[in-house]
Amino acid sequence: MRKIYIFDTTLRDGEQSPGVNLNTREKLEIAYQLEKLGVDRIEAGFPAASPGDLAAVNAVARAVKNSTVIGLSRSRTQDIDAVREALQGAEDPCIHLFLATSPIHRKYKLKMEKEQVLETAQAALRYARQYFSKIEFSCEDAGRTEIDFLCEMTAMAIREGATVVNIPDTVGYLYPQEYGNIFKTLKEKVPGIEKIQLSAHCHDDLGMATANSLAAIVGGADQIEGTINGIGERAGNTALEEVALALETRNDLFGAKTTLELTEIARTSRLVSRLTGMVVPGNKAIVGANAFAHESGIHQDGMLKEKTTYEIMSPETIGLKESKLVLGKHSGRHAFREKLVEMGYTLEDEGLNEAFAKFKVLADKKKDVTDEDLLSIVEEKIVDQQQSFALETIYVSYGNESTPSAKVRILTAEGEKLEEEAEGNGSVDAIYNAIDRATGEEVKLADYSIKSVSHGKDAQGEVHVVLSQNGLSVQGRGLSTDILEASARAYVDALNRLIEKRNLQAAK
Ligand code: KIV
Ligand code: ZN
Repeated sequence: MRKIYIFDTTLRDGEQSPGVNLNTREKLEIAYQLEKLGVDRIEAGFPAASPGDLAAVNAVARAVKNSTVIGLSRSRTQDIDAVREALQGAEDPCIHLFLATSPIHRKYKLKMEKEQVLETAQAALRYARQYFSKIEFSCEDAGRTEIDFLCEMTAMAIREGATVVNIPDTVGYLYPQEYGNIFKTLKEKVPGIEKIQLSAHCHDDLGMATANSLAAIVGGADQIEGTINGIGERAGNTALEEVALALETRNDLFGAKTTLELTEIARTSRLVSRLTGMVVPGNKAIVGANAFAHESGIHQDGMLKEKTTYEIMSPETIGLKESKLVLGKHSGRHAFREKLVEMGYTLEDEGLNEAFAKFKVLADKKKDVTDEDLLSIVEEKIVDQQQSFALETIYVSYGNESTPSAKVRILTAEGEKLEEEAEGNGSVDAIYNAIDRATGEEVKLADYSIKSVSHGKDAQGEVHVVLSQNGLSVQGRGLSTDILEASARAYVDALNRLIEKRNLQAAK
C-alpha cells in the first residue's frame, strides 16, 4: 500500500491563525498528542521569529521521540542558525527552508530576478546541508509560479541536498486538476525526482484545500502538509483529518493510506480547539459535532435499518464511542480512573488526585458528569500555567432595572490579595472593569465567545477571550458551570498570558 507521509504544521502555520498564540506548555501538549496520533513530521514553529518561538521549538524537539521535528527558516543564514539552535536535542531533526518563486512575489516582495532566487535558495541549501541531513525546501507560492521555473527550482533543490521539495498553493488559488498536474509534470520532467519526496501544502481560501491535497496525491505527492481542524493563516490550511479519512474511506479510489492512529483524531481535534480557542463549527467534516448526527426522520429510519445508508464512515473510526461508564457524585476514585483510561488518559497520582478533586466539586453542582465535562477537567489540568494572578472570589449584582456591578478578589503570585469593585454596561463588563482595577492592567477586549461544553441547563460554559495591549494579542479561556465565573476566569487567564508574553518580549 502506498504510504502518504503526514507533515503537521498546527504549531507553525496553524498558530498563524489570527488571535492564536500558544505558549511553550501548550505547544508541548499538542506535540505529545500529535505524536500519539502518529504524524510523521511535526513543524514546531519558526525559531527566528522570536526567542519565545525558538524556546518552544526546542522544548518540542527535546520532548518528541517518534516524529521528525521541523523548524521553519527563510533562506538566510541567521534563520538557519536559529533552527540549528532550536533543534538541539532532537531525535530526528529537519530544517524547512523556503523562498518565494512566483512572479508576483519575485517582483513585489523579494525584488529579485529568477536567477537571484535560484542563487539565494542554492546558497541557503548549501549552508543548511552542513548541519542537517534532512532538508525540506519550499517554493513559496509555487501554485502561481511558471511551471518551467518550478521544475528548475526543484531540480536545483535536489542537486543541493533537499530531501523533500514542497509545492505550496500559498494563497489557495488553484483548482484540483491544475494542482495535481503540477505534481505530474514535476515527476515526469525533473531529473532525480525519484530521490526525494514531493510534498503538497494547501490553503483553503477557495475551500479547495482538501480536494487539492487529494489531487496532489493522485498526481504523485508523497507527503501532505496541513493542520488539525484546518486552522491556519486566513481561511486556514488543509485539515489533515479530512485527508486521512478520505484516504481511508476511498481507499478503492486512491490506493494510498497514512499511518495515522485514526482513533486519536477526535481527541486531537478537541485539544487543538481548546488550546487555540478556535471553535470547530458543528458542520465541520469529520470532527464537527454534527458530523455523525442524523436529524431527519428519513435518515434516522435508514440508520436504524442499516447504518451504511447514511454513514460512509463510523464515529468509532476517529475515536468517538458510546460510553459504558457514567459518572456522578457517588462515583469513587477507582471508577474515575477507569473512566479516564477508557477515554485514553492515564494520569499520574498527583494529577489524578487533582483532577478527581475537581470532578467532585463539579459533580456536586451537576447531576451527570459527561465525557465532555471530564475532558475539560483533564485537559484544563494539563495546561496549568505560571500565574501572575488567580481569581479568588467574585460577586455580581444584576437586575434589569439597575446598573450591574461586580466585586472581585484577585490573588497575586506574591500572595497579595487585590479587591476591587466596579460597574459596567452588563455583568461581564462590570467583572472585567473590576479585574482591570484590581490588576492595574489596561487592555482591550478584542473578542469574546461562549459555548456550552456539554448538554442540559447545568452544562459547563467555556468562555474564550482575546485581549490586546500595545500590539500584543493573547487569548484566554475559562470554564465553569456559571458563565460569569467562566468569563472572569478566561479574562484572568488571558492577563496571565499577556504578562508572560510581555516579559518574554522585554527579555529580547
Ligand atoms: O503557505 C506557504 O507557502 C507556507 C510556506 C512557508 C511553506 O506556509
Ligand atoms: Zn502555509
